[in-house]
Amino acid sequence: MIGSGIAGLSAALAAAGEGARVLILTKRAASDGSTSHAQGGIAAALAPGDSVERHLADTIATGQGLSDPEVVQAVVRDGVQAVQEVIRWGLRFDRAGKSLAFGLEGGHSRARILHAGGDATGKALEETLLRKARASRRISFREHTFTLDLLQDASRAVRGVLLASPSGRVEILSARAVVLATGGAGQLYRETTNPDVVTGDGIAMALRAGAEVGDLEFVQFHPTTLYVAGASRMLISEAARGEGGVLRDRNGVAFMASFHPAADLAPRDVVSRAIVERMRRTSDTQAYLDLTHLKGSRASRRFPQITKVCRAFGLDPDRDPIPVRPSAHYWIGGVREDLEGRTRLTGLYACGEASLSGLHGANRLASNSLLEGLVFGRRAGLAAAASSSTRPARLAEAGRPRRRGRGEPMDLADARNALRSLCWRRVGIEREASGMTEALRQILFWERYLFTSAFPDPGGWELQNLLVLAHALTESALAREESRGVHFRTDFPERDDARWLKHLLWRDGRLCSEPLSRKPLAPVQAAR
Ligand code: FAD
Ligand code: SIN
Repeated sequence: MIGSGIAGLSAALAAAGEGARVLILTKRAASDGSTSHAQGGIAAALAPGDSVERHLADTIATGQGLSDPEVVQAVVRDGVQAVQEVIRWGLRFDRAGKSLAFGLEGGHSRARILHAGGDATGKALEETLLRKARASRRISFREHTFTLDLLQDASRAVRGVLLASPSGRVEILSARAVVLATGGAGQLYRETTNPDVVTGDGIAMALRAGAEVGDLEFVQFHPTTLYVAGASRMLISEAARGEGGVLRDRNGVAFMASFHPAADLAPRDVVSRAIVERMRRTSDTQAYLDLTHLKGSRASRRFPQITKVCRAFGLDPDRDPIPVRPSAHYWIGGVREDLEGRTRLTGLYACGEASLSGLHGANRLASNSLLEGLVFGRRAGLAAAASSSTRPARLAEAGRPRRRGRGEPMDLADARNALRSLCWRRVGIEREASGMTEALRQILFWERYLFTSAFPDPGGWELQNLLVLAHALTESALAREESRGVHFRTDFPERDDARWLKHLLWRDGRLCSEPLSRKPLAPVQAAR
């Protein structure tokens, strides 16, 4: 198992439940990852009067034609039991009196978001799953252990991984099955809600190994991150707008109603673009989230973490509008998996944000990704446990370039910042062909020396992975000549169902398109 967020821990628990011995590799402390940062909550059709059918309809409407209905059905249906299971394992969701409390977020036709500790849902989930996994005799952890690449046999089946131990020693580890649960790649962008471990390593490894990777052009930007010099880009949960929060410009004008009938609870892509447009029109660097209606300690009770950080920077949400602007938040694309979490490569499974299940389509419904992590984590864990592979005798390593270094010292932080700024400016909320072509030219230039250098530690490996992904993302976004969901092209501003009701997939180093009907994943060719 690579990754110890909600997806990796769910997979590990499911596999261990089938009697498998599971080793979890994780590159920092086990709780480092996006899961611990999740705020708003987890969506599940558990509220009185709600139904799986309504949750399904909201998810499909948000996905703008690209969600796979069979996958949506599986997640919203199995998600109900999955959430009840974590409650049995000890997770205490917030309550209103004797009943569970349900929050509202954009795109949901009713309040159905369960939350814990107000805005600390991810922390509560991570702690519950970690406690359960650490108590299992069949699950062990190697923390601060960086996975560099997948190891394959001659038929390209995945038989293990190459890893670097905390001391920097590189080891080969063989395994009957490998589950990628490495999360997204928010660190591709200068502005992001994601913690710094989220560098898309698993998706880059899968691309190198020849798994199918797709829908990369769909990066979700969250409209409201705290924008104060010196503060981390902390998310200001959409649940704050669900509780009546209003976005205003520098003149105090509430502008969202002029962009969408759902005003402040419009889909995230609409709100993010509206903020960018408003900032342009008012020559400002930010918008302002007004929570002053929650006066009298309601804000601090419902959103304790947010209130604490705002106060540390001299802002009192009871009185002051909070300066916000959009940031990269969630990568919809990833390693393509089937309904059981299997990828195209024998022995390789994927789940969580690293994967492409078909749930989100072109836009993710708020609070659906934690649910996907629980449901597909379990499925991938069960499938991996049932894997009939045996431990291999000889392994070939997947294709990370390992030529000698060039002898010149390199400022990795500078290179990473340059890449993140490029993606933010050219492949961000608004995109167009000439900017992306220029970005691609720059990426190809960086590849000439960064791919031919050997690095001794994670900083360099992460940078190489980010570069692999920036290339694949930019080519995918350039290819999709329409606007749909989170992918907005100023040169193709309309949705074009006649040409683009399909997925873009990377397969064996080439970008291909595939119509919507779910087919068995294309088998791999014989040995390269
Ligand atoms: P992660 O939790 O990111 O875990 C990835 C794991 O992989 C980590 O343990 C990491 O160390 C490990 N890893 C990565 N690369 C390597 C490597 N090379 N070697 C070894 N280990 C590696 N979603 C919701 O549904 N509701 C919300 O309220 C919500 N709020 C959010 C708030 C924030 C600030 C953020 C950033 C995201 C939020 N999301 C929310 C999205 C959701 O949290 C993530 O999509 C989800 O947690 C991803 O889980 P995961 O297990 O796939 O990945
Ligand atoms: C939020 O709390 O706004 C994040 C919810 C999500 O990303 O699903």
